[in-house]
Amino acid sequence: MTYISPSLLAADFKNLAADIKRIADAGANYLHIDVMDGHFVPNITFGPALVASIRSTTKLIFDVHLMISDPQKYIPEFIKAGADIITFHYESTDDPEAILQYLRDREVRTGIAISPNTPAEVLYPLIEKGLCDMVLVMTVEPGFGGQKMIPSTLDKVRAIRRFANAHSITLDIEVDGGINAENTGFCTAAGANVIVAGTAIFGSKKPQAIIRSMREAARNNKFFE
Ligand code: DX5
Ligand code: ZN
Repeated sequence: MTYISPSLLAADFKNLAADIKRIADAGANYLHIDVMDGHFVPNITFGPALVASIRSTTKLIFDVHLMISDPQKYIPEFIKAGADIITFHYESTDDPEAILQYLRDREVRTGIAISPNTPAEVLYPLIEKGLCDMVLVMTVEPGFGGQKMIPSTLDKVRAIRRFANAHSITLDIEVDGGINAENTGFCTAAGANVIVAGTAIFGSKKPQAIIRSMREAARNNKFFE
């Protein structure tokens, strides 16, 4: 199954609840919430208070992407705020295993992200231990929406999918950054099954048509290996 996770970063902030509803009605599965701290990445977005306040406006699964230093400090707040999936960056902590275990113990779905310059292999021990529900392969440098996808990052998606299959591990692989209806098929052919798109979906007047083309691309270019 392919999941579509529109990124809130490209939403209309002055009409947030209505814009989230528009995207939910268009067929999204998740709401991707990009949390940035101006330290791990050179941009600042939202915190747990925003997550808590939009929680009651929608049934969408909250896919929280933490681009912050010291994620372990803030994770309890995001859990309290209603995050369903919490993804933090491998590069942002010395002890990713402890954070994954912390999330597991609290029955929050676990995600770990790698930026374009981080090799896929660093995640293998964590995947092998069965600690990751999802791996997020950044297809742009984290920090800003509206960038162009870096095609070589899909080699890592391919490698991680092969590794998970070879070890009979069920794993969601999310791609994030510069994804649109035209390149979704390359992502799903590489093995991704969670598609983040900010500009392409929230920025569109016809999000339903975009989501439909993304799903069609995913069906036609599914990774079977
Ligand atoms: C970038 C964020 C992405 C971003 C995607 O750091 O993690 O989620 O919002 O936006 P688009 O789809 O516009 O590239
Ligand atoms: Zn993101």
